[in-house]
Amino acid sequence: MSTIAKVKSLAREYAPGIVEIRRHIHANPELSYKEFETAKYVADQLRQIGLEPKEGIAETGIIALIEGRNPGKKVIALRGDMDALPIQEANDVSYKSQNSGVMHACGHDVHTASLLGVARILNEIKDEFEGTVKLIFQPGEEKNPGGASLMIKEGVLENPSPASIFGQHVMPFIPTGKVGFREGMYMASADEIYMTIKGKGGHAALPEKVIDPVLITSHIIIALQQIVSRNANPKLPTVLSFGKVIANGATNVIPDEVKVEGTFRALDEAWRADAHAKMKKMAESIAEGMGGICEFEISKGYPFLTNDPKTTGATRLAAEEYLGVENVMDLDLWMGAEDFAYYSHEIPACFYRLGTGNEAKDTCHGVHTPNFNIDEDALEIGIGLMSWIALEELRSPGESLE
Ligand code: NI
Repeated sequence: MSTIAKVKSLAREYAPGIVEIRRHIHANPELSYKEFETAKYVADQLRQIGLEPKEGIAETGIIALIEGRNPGKKVIALRGDMDALPIQEANDVSYKSQNSGVMHACGHDVHTASLLGVARILNEIKDEFEGTVKLIFQPGEEKNPGGASLMIKEGVLENPSPASIFGQHVMPFIPTGKVGFREGMYMASADEIYMTIKGKGGHAALPEKVIDPVLITSHIIIALQQIVSRNANPKLPTVLSFGKVIANGATNVIPDEVKVEGTFRALDEAWRADAHAKMKKMAESIAEGMGGICEFEISKGYPFLTNDPKTTGATRLAAEEYLGVENVMDLDLWMGAEDFAYYSHEIPACFYRLGTGNEAKDTCHGVHTPNFNIDEDALEIGIGLMSWIALEELRSPGESLE
């Protein structure tokens, strides 16, 4: 049997068990950096197939090595994230979240279960490939500073050092059976903006006696949009949105201060830093010019995510071979953020999308919503495809896997 046929056959054989694992993780979600039970469960699963997980990296992170023949020849890494979101699940399914107010609404249950499936497949055929696969089960994708950055600090990309890293993420807007790739820039950096605009409150009928922070805030919000329209490179998207403005006065009361929160997203690190400085200066000067003060703070989130073109091109070819050209799609730029970006700034990386949408099964709701769910048929594809991608990446150019 050819290796690709063997991988497909093992994926089919292991899929039902991986669905059970996914359901267990789904029913027992844990928030970012609190993945204690999930991590124990994952480590147990790894031990059950004879691997030796190293636990406690960045507290709840785990790594495990699958060594093929000649393990030092080449090392690659596969990453799955384990954390859930503070959302109350609205799905009425047998494996519904048992943890009130916490839900796997971004599919990280799927990524973790899928990586365990890949572990089973690759461990089963480790005599048939050369090199080492490093499995990374990561905490805290959903919350700053990002579990990826913490695991990198704790040396997850050393001893042994992977030459490249791969991650997959569910995508409800892509039908089950298909996957998506994008070379180069794929996802945005995301920073949180917090402004407090201070003036002097008073009776709304006596504007000459107040320094109106509401009016100052209005000017600042509109002026800051010129960072996007007049300063940003129009060929690289930039997003600035404010979703929270609290001016707690009344029809006839001007408040002392206004609180504003927003998000800034970009695809270029130099521009990102420049924009931070420009926004701060603009907001502070407008407030000052109008007699008030603006306290401007930025909480930096993840950097932009870039898919190494060579690695991603090769991975896409592997996917076309595994699923057929017709089932491999191009992805658009996505202004969401993802902490896999940290790996992509360290070593060649490929982050791709696994289609999980199926209208008939009602699995086309967006991630981070209470109705999000997946078509579990995607798991067989998820585990088989990632295994095949790993095998192809470990193979030397020109070497046959037959
Ligand atoms: Ni996610």
